[in-house]
Amino acid sequence: MFQAQLTVDRDFTIAPLDRRLFGVFVEHMGRCVYTGIYEPGHPRADEQGFRQDVIELTTELGATIVRYPGGNFMSGYNWEDGVGPQADRPTRLDLAWFSTETNQVGTNEFMDWSRKVGIEPMYGVNLGTRGPDEARHYIEYCNHPGGTKLSDWRQQHGYAEPHNIKFWCLGNEMDGPWQICRKTAEEYGRIALETGKLLKMVDPTIELAACGSSAHDMPTYGSWENTVLEHAFDVVDYISLHTYFSKYSTLAAMGQGSQNPDDLLSTGDYLAQIETTGHFIDEIVAVADAVAARKHSPKRVMLSFDEWNVWYRARHGEHLKPAGWPVAPRLLEEVYNAEDALLIGGVLTTLMNHADRVKVACLAQLVNVIGPIMTEPGGAAWRQTIFHPFAQAAKWGRGTVLRPLLSSPGYAHAKLGELSYLVASVVDDAETGTTAVFVLNRHLTEAMDLRINLRSLGHERELIEAQQLHHADLSATNTADHPDEVAPRALTGVVVDGESLRATLQPASWNVIVTRARRA
Ligand code: AHR
Repeated sequence: MFQAQLTVDRDFTIAPLDRRLFGVFVEHMGRCVYTGIYEPGHPRADEQGFRQDVIELTTELGATIVRYPGGNFMSGYNWEDGVGPQADRPTRLDLAWFSTETNQVGTNEFMDWSRKVGIEPMYGVNLGTRGPDEARHYIEYCNHPGGTKLSDWRQQHGYAEPHNIKFWCLGNEMDGPWQICRKTAEEYGRIALETGKLLKMVDPTIELAACGSSAHDMPTYGSWENTVLEHAFDVVDYISLHTYFSKYSTLAAMGQGSQNPDDLLSTGDYLAQIETTGHFIDEIVAVADAVAARKHSPKRVMLSFDEWNVWYRARHGEHLKPAGWPVAPRLLEEVYNAEDALLIGGVLTTLMNHADRVKVACLAQLVNVIGPIMTEPGGAAWRQTIFHPFAQAAKWGRGTVLRPLLSSPGYAHAKLGELSYLVASVVDDAETGTTAVFVLNRHLTEAMDLRINLRSLGHERELIEAQQLHHADLSATNTADHPDEVAPRALTGVVVDGESLRATLQPASWNVIVTRARRA
């Protein structure tokens, strides 16, 4: 057992936590929509064909905002194909995922699904095969009250009231060679500006996110954001970041789906992506603020981390490119293990600790496709391992993020130096007096004797909840037959002494400890 200490002080804050940090992503690809959220004929389908078991799990996950309809799919999508009577909708080739899209779910059905879940929608416009003209028509269809051709069209489709979608993405990953109609930063920056102008003319209340780099290792990383923001700075509110964590040590090994253990990072190096995510955020903030400086602008472009997750196993061959243009093939059906759940928990602490600039984040995706929820067609729905840290953070991450002061031994990382075994974030809700401490013990073999000093949070504390996510086997997974193999259990033995807490945390465990100020 080793000793570690965490201190917070209510005067030392990072920022109020934007609840949109707990977003997710639903793309028309694989089985995310079809047999994921939507499966008419399933025993749990509602009258519209939405799976109620998935709705229930999404609610339990606590997701606050959902990005739709892609992803790469967005860059070839005709939104008009997905509105009006379902029987009349065209079937199309989806060039992003080599699949057949039936368009049985579209803009209005997805709005219905969002309302059923009680989640805010985030929609995107196609800046691949299409551009400003279709984008302005799309927002007129969605958000204009009525009395115009497109808003009347929505009403004829059964939606009298505007959808009032507030958050819009200006395309998707336009820097990527895989993207349908990829653009240079100059081309994209110009079209993002002009499209954004039109969207805000139709509805000035919306917020806009421009595409940043699709990954940290893109060759244009940094210069892409710089050029895009040089053009679009005045109209956009957010720049996006995407990141998919891999256990492979090289991209080549991932592309081959290598089974060679030598191609895999150690757990310590894998979990170091908690830190590199923070560096990624800091770098994009620096680029955005450098553009602001050159423009002599006090405006601060915020970050939308609108695709992030672990994705490395299902990232080659048939996982990406099915044969024969199937409908809803099994794509990117990554099965997560206990180790992945630790990384997701750790990255959530990084996102929270950057709450001053990261205002939106979307775990990609929601169901089946690199998702925290898995389903079988006609069968069960269950929680993957990564579901749990996300659900705990979304449940208890409310209020203001406090700056955690950590004292802990660590381990050596070849590039990053010493990394603390203790990884943490603390969110304090002054309204309810509730303080949530999220802690990862990154030591793989030793328990952590953790002292938590909630200095100046006032009053004696009472314990509300203490849970740990730990599995002796880091490769353990949840399956339809064993859906709760990796699941949170009570963290016992937490000692509360005034404003101090003491807990013993298992090796390789993600923990949440929630206390409340005891009322006099
Ligand atoms: O989430 C899967 C894909 O990853 C998305 O379609 C794309 O935006 C990213 O490359």
